[in-house]
Amino acid sequence: MYHEIDLEKIELKSEPPAKEPDRQYYFMAKCREWVREFEQKNGRSPLAFTQTFGCQMNARDSEKLTGILRKAGFVEAENEQADFVIYNTCTVRENANLKVYGHLGRLKHEKKQNPKMRIALCGCMMQEPEVVEKLKKSYRFVDLIFGTHNIFKFAELLAKTLESHEQIIDIWEGTEEIVEDLPALRKYPFKSGVNIMFGCNNFCSYCIVPYVRGRERSRKPEDILGEIKTLAEEGISEIMLLGQNVNSYGKTLKDPISFAELLRRVEEMEGIARIRFMTSHPKDLSPELIEVMKESRKICRHLHLPLQSGSTRILKAMNRKYTKEQYLELAERIRREIPDISLTTDIIVGFPGETEEDFLETLDVVQRVRYDNAYTFVYSKRTGTPAASMENQVPEAEVKSRFDRLLAVVQENARAQTARFADTVQEVLIEEVNEHDPSLLTGRMSNNLLVHFPGDPSLIGSIQKVRLESCKGFYYMGSLLPK
Ligand code: SAH
Ligand code: SF4
Ligand code: F3S
Repeated sequence: MYHEIDLEKIELKSEPPAKEPDRQYYFMAKCREWVREFEQKNGRSPLAFTQTFGCQMNARDSEKLTGILRKAGFVEAENEQADFVIYNTCTVRENANLKVYGHLGRLKHEKKQNPKMRIALCGCMMQEPEVVEKLKKSYRFVDLIFGTHNIFKFAELLAKTLESHEQIIDIWEGTEEIVEDLPALRKYPFKSGVNIMFGCNNFCSYCIVPYVRGRERSRKPEDILGEIKTLAEEGISEIMLLGQNVNSYGKTLKDPISFAELLRRVEEMEGIARIRFMTSHPKDLSPELIEVMKESRKICRHLHLPLQSGSTRILKAMNRKYTKEQYLELAERIRREIPDISLTTDIIVGFPGETEEDFLETLDVVQRVRYDNAYTFVYSKRTGTPAASMENQVPEAEVKSRFDRLLAVVQENARAQTARFADTVQEVLIEEVNEHDPSLLTGRMSNNLLVHFPGDPSLIGSIQKVRLESCKGFYYMGSLLPK
């Protein structure tokens, strides 16, 4: 996979090719031409700033955007004082949208200082027609707007934007297409996300993702394995397989394959030491997957298993397709089969019609599963989803109080669960120099916990043994063991 195409060999006088990804490489070469002219005029390379909102899927998409910008000759900027700014947006909850508008407000000011600056918006929020309407009307200073389905066309859109003074809008309603072999710039040299599927077919009643990301499409196993092989050759030792519901991976392929089977094949890849994946929908988690995880030497001891609610009644209204009992049984089984696993989850508080009794059911599941960590969210009404038009929206004060009570229990459990690894020796992937104390390194354990310990930055990217000495609530302080 990722066959580098030499931009210098592309003949820009001829028409752009129709075939992908060749067409995009042609436009990358066009952008590079623009960059050269810019350099001659300004005596420096143009700066580009990419900011990601939202989930790992978006983070991975942004790596593709920066990969293309870099290939065209842009240099990455640290902040919005740049020649090209792109926000890759999220719309899963209202506050994700508000953040983007907040940033745009400040960017408008920035553009007044530097009128030649180009501003682009892409990602999930752009798939909402109301958002695009608002941008068209009140945010004329935005130069380029595109969505999730045509992100592979970024080079082409960028080339157009650099030449034009009009606001360019290109939003697709959906796509069947998966364009392979485009460049990507990875944030870390030792770990990387790998998309295994796009979109979602589950239509949980509160969730906007299926509307903005489209129907579920799996990448072919050979493309995924090819990409992982290249990554391993480039020094990547940890990969995270990404999809909204990895447990339904491969079901719609011409030659169907299960997620568990894909994992078996990834396990065989030389050079890859750790495998993670995100996210698992409980309704599709197979016994085969538990088996594969149990036997694997490489799959990390961490499973993110979103609960959303502990009330069977609410789960039904959410269209989650499992009951409280089924979820508990699954979680208990996983804990029994893989005792050292960390279980984490997502929970929504205040879904329409949630009563105190429903909420207590959620607390009950949280107590019983003893999550190692949980992401808790206040329900946010998303236009166009079935839940948005449900009656009985829960009053804000009630939601706030439930949220605080839930968080207290979640944190108490997380502390106790974290503490259970005290005095053990763990293999950690050393990720960075500690943000607050440069004499320390930060490493991530297989179970996703962090440990900080004295060490030399040359160890970053390697896997080392670390003794966990003192538990500090949600993380550890430790010491490196000699090799
Ligand atoms: N595909 C993943 C989740 C993607 S969205 C899954 O099914 O688990 C990440 C999390 O955001 C969800 O798990 C859910 O807890 C939360 N979320 C999604 N829509 C929401 C909404 N309208 N209000 C509040 N939280 C929401
Ligand atoms: Fe949203 Fe449900 Fe799909 Fe997850 S599985 S992305 S929560 S619709
Ligand atoms: Fe947000 Fe889109 Fe991810 S809505 S959570 S960035 S799929």
